[in-house]
Amino acid sequence: MRIDILTILPELFESPFGHSMIKRAQDKQLVEIHIYNIRDFTTDKHRTVDDYAFSGGAGMVMKIEPIHRAIEFLKSQRNYDEIIYTTPDGVKFNQQIANSLSMKENILILCGHYKGIDQRIRDYMITQEISIGDYVLSGGEYAAIIMVDSIARLVPGVLSDETSALTDSFQDNLLAPPIYTRPADYNGWKVPEILLSGNTKEIENWQFEQSLEKTKNLRPDLLDKIESI
Ligand code: 6GU
Repeated sequence: MRIDILTILPELFESPFGHSMIKRAQDKQLVEIHIYNIRDFTTDKHRTVDDYAFSGGAGMVMKIEPIHRAIEFLKSQRNYDEIIYTTPDGVKFNQQIANSLSMKENILILCGHYKGIDQRIRDYMITQEISIGDYVLSGGEYAAIIMVDSIARLVPGVLSDETSALTDSFQDNLLAPPIYTRPADYNGWKVPEILLSGNTKEIENWQFEQSLEKTKNLRPDLLDKIESI
């Protein structure tokens, strides 16, 4: 899949996308990520990307022209399945949205800044508005990085163990069970006996019970989403 990002801070993406899973995904050509600087689509000498709000008050608004020009340019190159705007007043991002986006061919993410973008861009060009939670970030870039990470790892072939994304917390609306590695006894801190038994069926039952218990205690809201348990 291809993910294009429109931002006024392209430098912010260098390190997060240059290491670990996202780097491997790109090296294997499973995910292609391109960063575009909104300033490159300005036409004035000062490369202005913001302006005062008509309503007055504090805070600048991202101007319509450079964003419109950038999106039109990108749309002339390919068809986008989604044009996403990152904003604290968007729909809250979750694993289901990540799953669905990981199956797209081309997505474009526009990173919000300042007080936001001119509403007409949202009305006429954006297909999805996404927030990553109920708190305010200084820029949509951080939200875009988090979204791209969670999407890229779901693309088939990106994770070395194909099954591991399936057992993530949230994939089935249950939190993941506790997990352990050697030594089985660390200075008296013991791994649960059942995990040393080699009985796969019993271990699976134990893990499911642990997941259920953990979810009941920590995220009871998730259990409402499960039809049959
Ligand atoms: Cl997508 N952007 C900003 N600026 N703040 C946020 C957010 C996005 N999601 C949560 N807070």
